Amino acid sequence: MVKEFINTNKDRFLAELFDWLRIPSVSADSRNKEDVRKAALFLKEKFAVAGVDAVEIYETKGHPVVYAEKIINSSLPTVLVYGHYDVQPADPLNLWTSPPFEPMIKDDKIYARGSCDDKGQVYMHVKAFEAMMKLNSLPCNIKFMVEGEEEVGSDNLGDFVKANKTKLKADVILISDTALISLEHPSITVGLRGLSYMEVEVTGPNRDLHSGVYGGAVANPINTLCQMIASLHDENGCVTIPGFYDKVAALSSSDRESLNKAPFDLNYYKKDLDIDDVKGEKGYSTVERTGTRPTLDVNGIWGGYIGEGAKTVLPSKAHAKISMRLVPNQSSAEITDLFTKHFKAIAPKYVKVKVTAHHGGEPAVTPTDSKAFKAASKAFEEVWGKTPIPTRDGGSIPIVALFKKELGLDTVLMGFGLDSDAIHSPNEHYGVKNFLLGIETIVAFYKHFAKK
Ligand code: BES
Ligand code: MN
Ligand code: MN
Repeated sequence: MVKEFINTNKDRFLAELFDWLRIPSVSADSRNKEDVRKAALFLKEKFAVAGVDAVEIYETKGHPVVYAEKIINSSLPTVLVYGHYDVQPADPLNLWTSPPFEPMIKDDKIYARGSCDDKGQVYMHVKAFEAMMKLNSLPCNIKFMVEGEEEVGSDNLGDFVKANKTKLKADVILISDTALISLEHPSITVGLRGLSYMEVEVTGPNRDLHSGVYGGAVANPINTLCQMIASLHDENGCVTIPGFYDKVAALSSSDRESLNKAPFDLNYYKKDLDIDDVKGEKGYSTVERTGTRPTLDVNGIWGGYIGEGAKTVLPSKAHAKISMRLVPNQSSAEITDLFTKHFKAIAPKYVKVKVTAHHGGEPAVTPTDSKAFKAASKAFEEVWGKTPIPTRDGGSIPIVALFKKELGLDTVLMGFGLDSDAIHSPNEHYGVKNFLLGIETIVAFYKHFAKK
């Protein structure tokens, strides 16, 4: 029945999603502020048409939150669906093979910014809800909270959650914003990493200098920044910040075993990325490195002359954006503090260093013995014919830890993307198959979850 409904309506579902994807809801860029709002209004309208009792746009200090609910019987369980309608900036534009906000299907994949992260995945929930309403099969209460600031650190969502605890009362959180191992190997994410995002500025002389007149006698802040950054890892790929690993929860050997059982093809991985070898912390597999180990990476570095041709200059300043991915039981505030102290401590006398913190977020692991996890597992078995494999993803969804802290709720991370979907990259895409099977799996989740 559900399958048939999805099949009959799939062209319309995709056409609607395309209309949504055409709105460039880039939360990071203030020039897109009105587009972000337009995307919220679009979603509000779709919730209303699908048959919710109430849908509201809630203003925040930043971009608005879309909240909708359908309460069929207060004695039945309630699922709170979370997602985000904002997207990452599309640049570098010249690397897209089709324009990021002109969605199109190529090789059965939807190409557009936000197709996978996260509009396409949120829209599966809207259509799953519509299907259950049309087929008269909604078995429990549903609440939807879709935000517009996930890609910029969800700065105002904490306040929204704290101020609306009663409204958000539920039994479980359901999120589709993660990835499957592959279409052949469905999986459910059971861990996410946390984040500390820093920016550093290294200043040498009080002005740019002629690199011949002064070069060799005055510290070049770019050279110094590179040396400082290089010193943040040792020869084993470990982060050298004192105390960085102190709180890291040890993995049990059975956890390690079960994570490494997940199908992973290192040769394919290398080929896909066009690299001859992988690199990471000694003693851990690739799956462990991304899923269970903390890391430190430079996300951007700049300074000096980068224009056309050559300019001989010894710059006054150098900058870098550095992020650290965190694992249980590291704390974002503590790691931010450790980084700041260490980075200042290693600064040579001939430079001044400024360290500022951007957003952060806590890591999360989700239970696998809950009713909701079992329902998700059964839903995959029913629709995909295979038991989903529990995996730990390397990305971050800081709100998961916040939901646990503020609402006491666990999350089920039922994402349908693929690591190869190029999220945050040029040519982001999302499989039409993932989208349609996702809708079906979500409907099956509700059925199993609401069973006594
Ligand atoms: N959906 C991603 C997170 C993700 C991607 C989890 C793939 C698991 C697998 C989310 O939109 C995201 O990009 N989060 C940011 C963190 C945020 C604080 C900016 C991230 O992970 O960089
Ligand atoms: Mn996302
Ligand atoms: Mn993202």
